[in-house]
Amino acid sequence: MNGNNQTLTVEALGKSYGMGAKQVPVLHGVDLAVGPGEFVALMGPSGAGKTTLLNCISGIDRPDAGSVVIGGEEVDYQVEANLTELRRHRLGMVFQFFNLVATLTVRENVGLPLLIAGDPEGFNAGRHFRRGRRTIRRAGLADPFHPSQGRR
Ligand SMILES: Nc1ncnc2c1ncn2[C@@H]1O[C@H](COP(=O)(O)OP(=O)(O)O)[C@@H](O)[C@H]1O
Ligand SMILES: [Mg+2]
Repeated sequence: MNGNNQTLTVEALGKSYGMGAKQVPVLHGVDLAVGPGEFVALMGPSGAGKTTLLNCISGIDRPDAGSVVIGGEEVDYQVEANLTELRRHRLGMVFQFFNLVATLTVRENVGLPLLIAGDPEGFNAGRHFRRGRRTIRRAGLADPFHPSQGRR
């Protein structure tokens, strides 16, 4: 654990892909600190390991070495449920290919993670999708029924 006020601290992160003797190191000893409100762009040629680093930080993949601290809490990569909780409640990701559910409307796409995240008042699809609609309005977006390619 660290005592600083960084939003994100990455220390000595390592990740290789491959099996047995055929290991290809991708990340070796990556250190990174991001403060509150700081905007950071990660740049490098294709294949440099940008996606691998983001996947390891966000718990989509597991690093082989090093540590990641988010909001003062070290990420525990051993327990899948902790990674699910991290991705659901503590991180937001905008993917290059959006990963929207094509058969759902815009409102339903926004409401779905709210619904999965649970609600002390219990399951109520109408209420969750209304929350989805409010979230869309707050983001300054219109609410077309289905998103066109360009509006994603
Ligand atoms: N799941 C995987 N299995 C094996 N090799 C992988 C995997 N993911 C990425 N790699 C390899 O790791 C290296 C870094 O990839 P990546 O993190 O996607 O780079 P970037 O996002 O910077 O283009 C590349 O050589 C890629 O082929
Ligand atoms: Mg990439």
